[in-house]
Amino acid sequence: MNSLQKQHLILIGFMGTGKSTVARQLSRQLELPFFEMDEMIVQEQGMEISNIFQEKGEAYFRDLETALLKKLLQEEKGILSCGGGIILRDENIQAMKKHGTVILLTAKPETILKRVQHNQSRPVLNGKKNIDDITKLMKEREERYHMTADILISTDGKSLSQICEEIA
Ligand code: S3P
Repeated sequence: MNSLQKQHLILIGFMGTGKSTVARQLSRQLELPFFEMDEMIVQEQGMEISNIFQEKGEAYFRDLETALLKKLLQEEKGILSCGGGIILRDENIQAMKKHGTVILLTAKPETILKRVQHNQSRPVLNGKKNIDDITKLMKEREERYHMTADILISTDGKSLSQICEEIA
């Protein structure tokens, strides 16, 4: 067993970088359980992410996210697909670095815009679906993504199988 297999594989990155799709495929390839954190929060709360933000506020969502990350990192080893804002809290960064191998997926703002344009499920991007705002938010988060990651994979122009092959 190599060191990767002994740890959680944690996918992080900006919204629309393909974390969930890549994590699902990797979980098949590596035969490890797959945890999609946003989906788990939606199931647990019985509410869409955008409704959680609207009705309970972002801090409430971030608390749920932090608690779930802590729980998952203590459980069975698997592939975790995190929401794009997981790096906003220092304690999450420390926990991920301690308990997993962190893979950062990146994409150009133009690619992100194309992928998120017609999707209403990301409250952080409400009113910000343009290159300038996406570039600005990415820049604000960039340092935190990079300080968390062990491995960086650019997804621009690559197929799902190319990305998974690179990671594996
Ligand atoms: C968020 C990203 C979303 C989701 C929430 C907040 C963010 O996940 O957790 O809308 O702050 O970047 P995805 O990265 O899977 O879209």
